[in-house]
Amino acid sequence: MSPAASVTTRRAIIAGVGASVPTRVLTNADFEKMVETSDEWIITRTGIRERHIAENGTVGSDLAYEASLKALAEAKLSPEKLDLILVGTVTPDYPVPSSATILQRKLGATHAAAMDLVAGCTGFIYGLATADAFIKAGMYKNILVIGVEVLSKITNYADRNTCVLFGDAAGAAVVTANAEGNRGILSTFLAADGSLAELLWVPIGGTVQPLTPENFDERGHYLKMAGNEVFKAAVREMGEASANVLEKAGVKPEELKLLIPHQANIRIIEATAKRLNLPMEKVFVNIDKYGNTSSASIPLALYEARKEGKAGPGDLVLMVAFGAGFTWGAVLVRL
Ligand code: ACO
Repeated sequence: MSPAASVTTRRAIIAGVGASVPTRVLTNADFEKMVETSDEWIITRTGIRERHIAENGTVGSDLAYEASLKALAEAKLSPEKLDLILVGTVTPDYPVPSSATILQRKLGATHAAAMDLVAGCTGFIYGLATADAFIKAGMYKNILVIGVEVLSKITNYADRNTCVLFGDAAGAAVVTANAEGNRGILSTFLAADGSLAELLWVPIGGTVQPLTPENFDERGHYLKMAGNEVFKAAVREMGEASANVLEKAGVKPEELKLLIPHQANIRIIEATAKRLNLPMEKVFVNIDKYGNTSSASIPLALYEARKEGKAGPGDLVLMVAFGAGFTWGAVLVRL
């Protein structure tokens, strides 16, 4: 086989998946005691019943480490065999260095390059698409892709518009090169629109406005969101991204075994399914248990979907997300 031919037949397969959630749970009833809200409002407007929150002292790389060990075990791969670690997160352990390097150290993945991807809730999809490109280019064989968030650290628990929405978690996937069979990532799509950056952001704490004793009370170091604007764009772009990857791969929506949408709001999930003409039985939902865990939401959902037998080897699965930036994207895979 010529080198060119070997590049085109190489596919990135998902060889292992893992997830980790902290044990502490905050229910809607807990929020009724914290802000002016109700269990009924939260359930009907978002679909969320509870979310998991990291204990003080548990950081993103701890959750990522646990999720990674599970994914590596399923893939039967030792950490030293990893070529690259990609961590999607907006809540890194430190501003510098990347969480990916901290995770590389914890895993002992001594031969892996490592970097973070900051793409809001689309972080894991950006990671998968990046891994797919590296593998197709023939540059790497074994890549660990993570989505991990400790959103509780950037959530203002006095702001009812945001605090009820978010939770902490990590999910991981081992992506490996494979030149046989029809399994693997079939198509990817990534997009962004930075002109809408201020609709979902943390305004204070970067270099434009460092956090100081003077601006601390503004609470600008927490997530701020224009929920309704984000909602409309999420419905539109998740539909577009899904259609894009299906068309590129020549797959019809009805051929999908499962749609795994980013878990931000049950109404966004339902609207996305409707756009694709998919019945809700073909859509994975676990937002009721975890809330919005940003870049962790899709790998956590993929992990649970496989454990529950809702998707398995050979099944076509579409993963699609939308998040801060704005960013959005989709990955179509035959598991
Ligand atoms: N309890 C009770 N009332 C509330 C609460 C609450 N927790 N939160 C907001 N309200 C009120 C508002 O104050 C508003 O009251 P007003 O009309 O008196 O001003 C009313 O409810 C309606 O507010 P809306 O914002 O119009 O409500 P909406 O139906 O849009 O739901 C929500 C809000 C849940 C935030 C929704 O817009 C949403 O899910 N947006 C998308 C979130 C998302 O997708 N994020 C993705 C990325 S996150 C990331 O990247 C980290």
